[in-house]
Amino acid sequence: MSLRIDILTLFPEMFTPILGTSIPKRAAEKGLVEYHLTNIRDFATDNHKSVDDKPFGGGPGMVMMCQVVFDAVESVEKLDLRPATRIILSPQGQRFEQKMAEELSRKERLLLIAGHYEGFDERIIEGLRPTELSIGDYVLSGGELAAMVVVDSIVRLLPGALGAADGAADESFSDGLIEYPQYTRPREFGGMAVPDMLLSGNHKNIAEWRHEQREKRTRERRPDLWADYLRRKQEKENR
Ligand code: ADE
Repeated sequence: MSLRIDILTLFPEMFTPILGTSIPKRAAEKGLVEYHLTNIRDFATDNHKSVDDKPFGGGPGMVMMCQVVFDAVESVEKLDLRPATRIILSPQGQRFEQKMAEELSRKERLLLIAGHYEGFDERIIEGLRPTELSIGDYVLSGGELAAMVVVDSIVRLLPGALGAADGAADESFSDGLIEYPQYTRPREFGGMAVPDMLLSGNHKNIAEWRHEQREKRTRERRPDLWADYLRRKQEKENR
């Protein structure tokens, strides 16, 4: 059974180039995933096709209205019997990380809601009970780019999405370490040589070297990840 991904957005055209390129495109061609784009504005009921309004209490910006979002979700969810895991992209959400991408890649249906403007009427969150996800502590003009980030990271984890040789299993983050350095031909470029170890042909030593490099880089560049890694390692040893 393929994964169905519904995306509710005011700008469906932003998604087509991304979903129609590279791995997201190939995954759909292989039948691993189906994308369904819905324009939230199609559910506006007034003459102006309004989807947002001024915030009660004043303040800058506009707020996404309840009615259009509820109607869009209801209409889209009816199109397929599979229950959807509802996701709203928002800087107020839980931080989206690899572990969540792995979890979501095992679902049968996802429904992502990308808002624009200052945010959603809080009753949308209350009523739909979505998982709110943030892709980082910065503010985008809308949830569209965040939704694309989430979709891309999930789709490439679907079994068969990546080529046979480049499985996602031993990548950065799946075990809490960042990647080792990579090199390709030529052996020397601009006076910079490829480390001898990688030319040795000794696969066991190369694997060890790469693991050391991952630890070293994580320690130096991502002390936050390194602390988690050490803690988990300690826990494992104590078990
Ligand atoms: N919408 C605006 N900024 C966002 C962010 N950082 N993550 C998710 N959705 C957003």
